Amino acid sequence: MHTQPLTASSAFQALRSHYALVKNRRLAELFAQDPARFKTFSTKAAGILLDYSKNLLDDATLRLLQELARERGVAAQRDAMFAGEKINVTEQRAVLHTALRAPLSADLQVDGQHVSSDVHAVLERMRAFSDRVRAGDWTGHTGKAITDIVNIGIGGSDLGPKMVCRALRSYAHPRLRMHFVSNVDGHDLDAVLSQVDPETTLFIITSKTFTTMETMMNAQSARRWFLQHNDNDAAALAQHFVAVSTNLVAVNAFGIDADNMFPFWDWVGGRYSVWSAIGLPIALSTGFDNFSAFLQGAHAMDEHFRTAPLESNLPVILALVGLWNRNFVGCGSVSIAPYLQDLELFPSYLQQLDMESNGKHVAANGTALEIATGPIIWGNSGTNCQHAYFQLLHQGTDITPVDFIAVLKPNHTLPQHHAALLANCFAQSEALMRGKNTAEVRAEMQVQGIASADIEALAPHRTFAGNRPSNTLLMDGLNPTSLGALMALYEHKVFVQGVLWGVNSFDQWGVELGKVLAQNIQSELTAAAQPERHDSSTNGLIALARAAL
Ligand code: F6P
Repeated sequence: MHTQPLTASSAFQALRSHYALVKNRRLAELFAQDPARFKTFSTKAAGILLDYSKNLLDDATLRLLQELARERGVAAQRDAMFAGEKINVTEQRAVLHTALRAPLSADLQVDGQHVSSDVHAVLERMRAFSDRVRAGDWTGHTGKAITDIVNIGIGGSDLGPKMVCRALRSYAHPRLRMHFVSNVDGHDLDAVLSQVDPETTLFIITSKTFTTMETMMNAQSARRWFLQHNDNDAAALAQHFVAVSTNLVAVNAFGIDADNMFPFWDWVGGRYSVWSAIGLPIALSTGFDNFSAFLQGAHAMDEHFRTAPLESNLPVILALVGLWNRNFVGCGSVSIAPYLQDLELFPSYLQQLDMESNGKHVAANGTALEIATGPIIWGNSGTNCQHAYFQLLHQGTDITPVDFIAVLKPNHTLPQHHAALLANCFAQSEALMRGKNTAEVRAEMQVQGIASADIEALAPHRTFAGNRPSNTLLMDGLNPTSLGALMALYEHKVFVQGVLWGVNSFDQWGVELGKVLAQNIQSELTAAAQPERHDSSTNGLIALARAAL
C-alpha cells in the first residue's frame, strides 16, 4: 500500500490543474463535438458493457487518472490480494474472496493451507446438501420435505444471499420459500415464524463470528420456538438447524455439530462472503449448478481484473471515474439505479460493500486523510426511483452521479414493458446530462400557447441545469453468471478506490463503538435503578424506555 497521501502524487496534482480547465465544459457540447464519444468512453468485459461517456471527462482526464492508478500501485496491490498476501493490515489477514470462485486447478496455497482444496471440499458439501433438500431427501424430523428455509444472519451474512436469492427468483425451486431474518427487532423473526411450519422449516444460522448479538438472539429465539412446537425434542433439532460460520466452538456450544456446519475462513470478509458457504441459501433456492454459474461469472470478472491492462480494465475505470466525481467534481454520494425489479436489493447490498469498506478517515498506515474517501451509496430500482427522488437528482443543489444498471433481455414475457423500462433508463441519463436551458423552456411554453407573463414566472422552475454525470451498465440478461460478474465488478471497484485513497478496505472498526455502548444501555434498561451515567438526551431516552418496558 502506498504510504504517501494521495494528494502528494504528481498525477493527482496534475488532475487538479486539469479539473480547473475542464470544469466549466458542458457534456452536451462534448457529445456534439465528438460523435464517437460513446464508443471511446465505453468498454465491455465478462458480459458487462460500461458506458462512462456521460461523465465530465475527456482523453486527457483518463490519461491522468490512469497515471494516478499507476503511481498508487493499483496493479501491485491487486496482485498481492490475489496471491493471498495479508493486505488487511489492521487485522493481519489475507483477503481471498477471489479464491472462493476460482477453479480447483488454481491450486492456491497460503500459509501452508491448500486454499483451493479447502474451498472445493466445502462446495462439494454444499452441493450434496442442497441437492438433498431440493429433492426432498433431507426431511424434517417427521419425514416431511422442507418447504421453508429461514436464513438468520445480518450484514454480510444476510445482504448478499438475500439480494442474490431475490435477483434470481426466476430460478427458484417451486417448493422452497426463502426467508431472511436479520434485525433484532422481534417483529422480523415473529413475522416469519408466524408463516412457517416447524415440521418443514430449515433454519440456517449464518454468522462468520457466531457472536453477533442480533443473530445469536434470533437464533436462540428460533430454537426455543422450534422446541416449544416439538415437545422439547432436542434430537429433532439436527434436521432443522444448520450453521455457516468460521467458529466451530461457538456453533457446537449452540447445539449444532460439525456435520451440520458449513465452514469458511478468516480470510473471507463478511461483506465479501456470499461466494462462500454464506451463499448456501442461493444453492438451496436456485440449485447448485446455478450457484456454480454465479461463481464462474465472478471468476470471469476476476480474470479480467487480474489480467487486462489498466486502460481497458472495467473495475479500474469504474473506480477512477468514481474517484474523479468524488474528489474533483465534489460529489458526496452515488445513487444506484438498477432498472430491474429483481435487483431492487442491489443498492442496499452495495451500501455495505462500499461504505463499510471505504468509509474510512485514516490511511492504512494510520495517518489522517486529507481527502474525501468513500461516498454515500444509496438508491432504488427504476422506474420507481423516478417517482420518488429523481426530482432532486435533476434539479437539486447537489450533484449526484448515478449508476444505471439494465439488461437487454428480461426474464419475463412482456416485451412492451421492457421497451418502456429501457426507454426510461436511457432517457434519465440523457436528461441528467443534457438538461434543458431557459431558451428551450421558453420556446416550449410558447408553442403550448402559455401567456408570456406566465412563461417568465415558470421558466426558472422548468429549467434543468444538466451536466450531471452517470454511468450505464448494460448486460444481456440477469442470470447467475451475469450477476456474479456484476457483483465482482463492484467488489473490485471498491478495492481499487481503497488503494487509490490508501485506506484498508477490509476492516470495519467503525461499527464497534455502538455495539459496546448498546451492551451497556441494554443492561441499564433492566437494572433495578437507572445509573444516569450518560448525557441528558441518552439518560432521558433510557428513562422513557424503562417506564415502558
Ligand atoms: O458489524 C459489522 C459486521 O461485522 C459486518 O462486517 C458483518 O458482515 C456483520 O457484522 C455480521 O457479522 P457475522 O457474520 O460475524 O455475524
